[in-house]
Amino acid sequence: MDPLDVSRAELYRDDTWHAPFRELRATAPVHRVEDSDFGPYWSISSYKPIVEVESLPDAYSSARGISITDFIEDHSAVKMPMFIAMDRPKHTGQRRTVAPAFTPSEMVRMSDNIRRRTGEILDSLPVGQAFDWVDTVSIELTTQMLAILFDFPWEDRRKLTFWSDWAGDIEVVKSETLRAERLTHMYECGAYFQKLWDAKVGKDPTPDLISMMIHSDAMREMDHLEFLGNLILLIVGGNDTTRNTMSAIAYGLDKFPDARTQLENDPSLIPNTVQEVIRWQTPLAHMRRTSTRDMELHGQHIAAGDKLIMWYLSANRDESVFEDADRIQVDRPNARRHLAFGHGIHRCVGARLAELQIATLLEEMAKRRMRVNVIAEPERVAACFVHGYKKLPVEISRY
Ligand code: HEM
Repeated sequence: MDPLDVSRAELYRDDTWHAPFRELRATAPVHRVEDSDFGPYWSISSYKPIVEVESLPDAYSSARGISITDFIEDHSAVKMPMFIAMDRPKHTGQRRTVAPAFTPSEMVRMSDNIRRRTGEILDSLPVGQAFDWVDTVSIELTTQMLAILFDFPWEDRRKLTFWSDWAGDIEVVKSETLRAERLTHMYECGAYFQKLWDAKVGKDPTPDLISMMIHSDAMREMDHLEFLGNLILLIVGGNDTTRNTMSAIAYGLDKFPDARTQLENDPSLIPNTVQEVIRWQTPLAHMRRTSTRDMELHGQHIAAGDKLIMWYLSANRDESVFEDADRIQVDRPNARRHLAFGHGIHRCVGARLAELQIATLLEEMAKRRMRVNVIAEPERVAACFVHGYKKLPVEISRY
């Protein structure tokens, strides 16, 4: 076993990934792992080579998958085409169908709603009493947001969380039973969205993602499975990621109380803090590319067909870019340079919405002079893809 195989789930469950990545960055930023639970792969762990890979999308393809897992061709799997896992030119057309939902003017349109719902949740929190921040705040806020984006039936919104958790759990690939169970849930998700779709076809456009997709030009060339795949992409893309950043706000600021006090004293630091917490957390630890031809990368020979794992989590700790990178510094001058949203043609299409939600949470907390105190270590997600928290016990106080 390679001690520098950073795909091992326990590194994330136990939060012990820092040391192996530090060693990889120092000694082998482009490192070949011959044997892992996910087969052989190249581990790309520092900033520059990741940017290089993302800047050459024709040489390093997304079409063979975007996570370290490989597609298993059996009865427990169905291929759902999503534009995150497509190359040009198909990617370009399909991305265009959803991009209008995330323009600055759309953000302005949504911002009052986001603020009101964030305030309602914060006002409902018990003061001086323990509760789980992940479920009560992070999941609830993120799920409400997705329900609004999709015009999804409000009372059923937790289904979105449930489907997303299944879709994003890469550990599922290790068990045929779990893969089959996941497929059942994905079919259920598909059937549900089919009903929502049917109700909107032939009607006037409404400002939600389903209607936007129905009325877009590229949609005419999209088959049914593609429509479903892209919807699931939006649910998963907008769910775990924003959720885990919201949890990192509570956990990370409690871990660095000086930074928290600085922010409490100067709310103008909120926009920079949003970027800094996203950098520090890096809610998606990696994305994957597959080489389409023989390439040279950082002095290594990459063969056609090789799997490359770009560890954003490690790039965002790269000491040559971020000084004292393990710390949260709310006034870090280059916090915006993080790679947590990726880089290049696949850079996160929902980044503005995520930033808006997270900034609104910090602003509404500041308005209420609300401080979140962590009262026990979190339970973490045991996987090398979604990097986050399952439970985070906290108590609220005022400053
Ligand atoms: C793509 C991270 C929030 C939807 C991505 C990528 C990353 C990422 C790393 C892939 C970039 C690449 O391959 O270069 C994040 C993080 C978020 C977040 C850290 C929150 C802090 C959201 C939200 C949505 C969303 C709120 C939508 C509701 C998508 C979609 C793609 C994507 C559709 C595919 C883009 C493409 O392939 O062109 N995101 N994301 N994400 N994200 Fe996000």
